[in-house]
Amino acid sequence: MCGIVGYIGYRDAYPIIIKGLHRLEYRGYDSAGVALLNENDKLNIYKKAGKVSNLENFISDQDASGHIGMGHTRWATHGEPNDRNSHPHQSGNEKLAIIHNGIIENYGPIKEELISRGHVFISDTDTEVLIHLIEDIQKEACLDLKEAVRVALNEVIGAYAIVIMSKDNPNQLIAARKGSPMVIGVGEKEFFIASDATPIVEYTKNVIYLNDNEIAYIDENEILIKTIDNVIQTPYVHALELKLEMLEKGGYDHFMLKEIYEQPRSIHDCMRGRIYPLTGKVQLGGIKDYADKFKNADRIIIVACGTSWHAGLVGEYLIEEYARIPVEVEYASEFRYRNPIISEKDIVIAISQSGETADTMAAIELAKEKGATILGICNVVGSSIPRLTHAGVYTHAGPEIGVASTKAFTAQVTALTLMAFYMAQTKGTLSQSKLINLLTELERIPELVEKALLSNDLILEIAKKFKDSRNALFLGRGSGFPVALEGALKLKEISYIHAEGYPAAEMKHGPIALIDEEMPVIVIATKNSSYEKVISNIQEVKARKGVVLAIVTEGDTEVRAMADYTIEIPHTDEAFLPLLATIPLQLLSYHIALLRGCNVDQPRNLAKSVTVE
Ligand code: AGP
Repeated sequence: MCGIVGYIGYRDAYPIIIKGLHRLEYRGYDSAGVALLNENDKLNIYKKAGKVSNLENFISDQDASGHIGMGHTRWATHGEPNDRNSHPHQSGNEKLAIIHNGIIENYGPIKEELISRGHVFISDTDTEVLIHLIEDIQKEACLDLKEAVRVALNEVIGAYAIVIMSKDNPNQLIAARKGSPMVIGVGEKEFFIASDATPIVEYTKNVIYLNDNEIAYIDENEILIKTIDNVIQTPYVHALELKLEMLEKGGYDHFMLKEIYEQPRSIHDCMRGRIYPLTGKVQLGGIKDYADKFKNADRIIIVACGTSWHAGLVGEYLIEEYARIPVEVEYASEFRYRNPIISEKDIVIAISQSGETADTMAAIELAKEKGATILGICNVVGSSIPRLTHAGVYTHAGPEIGVASTKAFTAQVTALTLMAFYMAQTKGTLSQSKLINLLTELERIPELVEKALLSNDLILEIAKKFKDSRNALFLGRGSGFPVALEGALKLKEISYIHAEGYPAAEMKHGPIALIDEEMPVIVIATKNSSYEKVISNIQEVKARKGVVLAIVTEGDTEVRAMADYTIEIPHTDEAFLPLLATIPLQLLSYHIALLRGCNVDQPRNLAKSVTVE
């Protein structure tokens, strides 16, 4: 969490930084701050609790000049979100300033030691300790700033992406990374630093992804990258594929709504060039060297968090059904702290939209140590997880900016579907004719999602009925169960209504006690193998006066007769049900949240990339 931006060059730094902070606000919005070095080498630092717009208002009548500067948008870990704990933080002599994304785990003992040597701290943050440590090393060991930063980074334990500015070195930014993302944009006589490429893309397409344990010493003409062991590195300059319009709302009121409506395209982009319905072939270039691994795999373990974990549950159904490989789906945060039994014949699939989730990264490291093959399913190109895994598949959903994941989920499910079919093709567990049928139907999914989106007006009307609910229950069976979990997560994270997802048949083992006329029960009741069973579950809810909203297959009459509200989705093969049934649930939570006056793109307490455990 936390977003960082830096600039050095010939342009005014402030507009670049503030725009960059708006783009990175999805990473945290507890407070924001900037540091700018003006032409008299005065270091102006402005910081404010709350959103970036608060900071912007505050700075409007201040000196925001300078061609070198940096900014930070915070998701609070150490210290409450107030002005004092906002970044940038300064050294005791006020000559150095730092911004930081990550956690310095051993800040406690370092702080004690520094206090005993006379350092006075203003904030409660771990970050302030690091800048004091650098100042201390610089003074005590008589080192220049570059060397002092390097020595200090060898003393700290934890994760960081940092940028440092100094009054005494007015033409220099120092950036370093370990475990938190950092991209450096390379322009003509200018450099940009950011947590991701979104603040950079409109200025240059040339970027360097800093690796862990690397420090970049940047002035307006030159960049020098060294490891923290002082070994010079040759940077690789990548060409960005990101386009500016992908980062804008494009006429929609919210990024979440835009991203919901982008799904026909994002699902299509995920499949493009990978499926051949006429010949019944799936090609996944990223994992093509792993065909033998799939043939011999004892087991697949999927690790992920949140929405990505829900996609993993859908993957479990698909892989077991079509490739006949046993699958376990694990919360990365739990998996990493167990002593899981993993063999070299296991394949671990890590799923992450951001490619930066700390728990998922730690789960990958653990499985790697134990000898498993690690494959990734990620959306953000160049993020950390694709670099940690042995191979993988990008989802190509495009940037997802709304904190609540929507198109990333359906793209992950699409990628898992492709993987399941690819494994089945490799193992020979699916006949050619069945694969041709499945791929032919899969190719139609973007068009069917388009149709599902046509229910938006109806969903808004239903949202009006449910907007004041305090609780909601989401039920589904089979692959409808992860859809129910995902529907519940969407509702709770953006509307703050308590919601639970449950396997429909489990309801009678406890949750049924919650049902009364106040309780909306949203049921995935499409025509598939568990249809009849779900009908029985709906009857159980109705017998207890629950209010039922059913997601049904178009033309359904049976469920319509018993449910209070129904939303139709087009008919499709059971394999692809989650891709369609999720759509109305996303729209439902969007409208409910909006009717309740919630901030749908930036729900409270959340951040898009969870880079701390
Ligand atoms: C879902 O809407 C949330 N944004 C969250 O659960 C998210 O899916 C989770 O934090 C995992 O993120 P990742 O996919 O970037 O790893």
